[in-house]
Amino acid sequence: MSPTDPNTADRSPAARKMADPAWWTTCVAYQIYPRSFCDTTGNGIGDLAGIRAHLDHLSWLGVDAIWLSPFFTSPMADAGYDVADFCDVDPLFGDLDEFDQLLSEAHQRGLKVIIDWVPNHTSIEHPWFAESRSSTDNAKRDWYVWRNPGPSGEPPNNWTESLTFGPAWTTDDTTGQAYLHCFLPEQPDLNWDHPAVEAALHDTLRFWLDRGVDGFRMDVVHLIGKDPDLADVAPELVGLPQVVLNNRPETHERLRRIRSLIDAYPGDRMAIGEIYLLDTEQVASHYGSNDELHLCFNFPPLFAKFDAESWRTVMDDTVASLDPIGAWPTWVLSNHDNPRHATRYAKGQEPNDAAARARAAAVLLLTLRGTPFVFAGEELGLTDAEVPEGRRHDPAGRDGCRAPIPWDATPNHGWATGTPWLPWPPEATARNVDTLRQDPNSILWLYREVLALRRSRPALRVGDLQRWDLHPDVLAFRRGTGHDALLVLVNMGNDDLDVHLDLDPDAARDPDPDHRPSWTMVCSSVEGVTDPATTAVVWSSRLRRNEAVILGQ
Ligand code: GLC
Repeated sequence: MSPTDPNTADRSPAARKMADPAWWTTCVAYQIYPRSFCDTTGNGIGDLAGIRAHLDHLSWLGVDAIWLSPFFTSPMADAGYDVADFCDVDPLFGDLDEFDQLLSEAHQRGLKVIIDWVPNHTSIEHPWFAESRSSTDNAKRDWYVWRNPGPSGEPPNNWTESLTFGPAWTTDDTTGQAYLHCFLPEQPDLNWDHPAVEAALHDTLRFWLDRGVDGFRMDVVHLIGKDPDLADVAPELVGLPQVVLNNRPETHERLRRIRSLIDAYPGDRMAIGEIYLLDTEQVASHYGSNDELHLCFNFPPLFAKFDAESWRTVMDDTVASLDPIGAWPTWVLSNHDNPRHATRYAKGQEPNDAAARARAAAVLLLTLRGTPFVFAGEELGLTDAEVPEGRRHDPAGRDGCRAPIPWDATPNHGWATGTPWLPWPPEATARNVDTLRQDPNSILWLYREVLALRRSRPALRVGDLQRWDLHPDVLAFRRGTGHDALLVLVNMGNDDLDVHLDLDPDAARDPDPDHRPSWTMVCSSVEGVTDPATTAVVWSSRLRRNEAVILGQ
């Protein structure tokens, strides 16, 4: 019998983990903001059919999973993060049949589907809230958090909401009591202390798990446990939104129950939490002992500058907080809540340098150890749209990064006729899918090539990461597993550099230079990708500014 005979193979959990890591650790996920992806109806708002129409493109690009921001029934006060029915599709986006079709077509292509789940709050138009606000003795009164205002009508505590930085309380005329909302007044917070709320929210998970989704991105899920006393925040913290302060023990037991529910389903379903705490150690605690969230978003890297020292810090913090508990990292440079990284990193840069930084960032994101999330449009190098006052939608000013995705160079950029809900991003005539697919040197092809490399190289998918200090301006790390090893160097400084790899801990230190291993360029963000099988070149030790290279032996 051979050692790999399936009948004798080691089936222990540890062996299975080594041989077959969970899909959510090896995947690259792609965030789709449905409103902005592609409109097929002419109402100017992207829809589920528009996503279906472009699944082949996502397969061509080489991502493994899609995360869909909310497409549920909503009055859209917060662009869908104010949900009025957790178990239905807003007609703007399609209907449940359309969703089922999308799910099945994604699965046919091997793409996993993660949907958003918004457990902390509902829309003010959710029937639960309509009941809750109707009287103090309504059966659903305690499904939300109601308190008496102070004697002069002041809010029950000094908490701040996160989108406009106003008070986190609104007094409702019907009963004269105030309700808590950590986001807009149109998004009342649910009361997770009430068992019926937890049960109802669990049912919404089951609804989508039964339909076959592979996982959930859980919106601000660290807010589901709150201080039962709703105590004031300390004077020095007043004005900071509650979302960055709320780190409570109650949350963890609730996450464990969510985890049990999800793990009971067949097929490796998962949950990734948006833990909007700005301390990686606090974020890490929401993995529990591998019995809470499968993954957590960690935002300090998203806020890090394009600067080697800042990146060394966020990488080292991630290792220090996650490794001891065996938790798997995630990496995000852009999403629907923040200016795109191509915009942020471009500040004060000439256009060529700005474009080079976006390319180097692609190599960085896709070579880190952990699960990367690509925000739709970053593979086109998109920057934020300028949104004139009359066309703004978001009360928190996040419209720029939500600009529609341009699919081709025609005036409507592949969207149905009609004006899209937000203006096009800059350079849409050049930076669109169709045009960039015709240019193998484009950033789109760079993403595709690094995604392909990530799939084919175990070092990138599952390998260890060893960071080392090569040069103050260069972020340098080695990825390796077994015999597969790659080096990643990113020059984040202002100068071209000659770099010597003697500090690489694994490089042979043979005194005879002819016996030292030579490093082969596998990919450069500047050059585009060099196919090692055909055109491999020995790396020249020159690292241009804003260049990222991947080297192999
Ligand atoms: C999350 C979402 C954001 C939304 C907020 C309230 O942070 O990413 O878009 O406004 O939660 O649901």
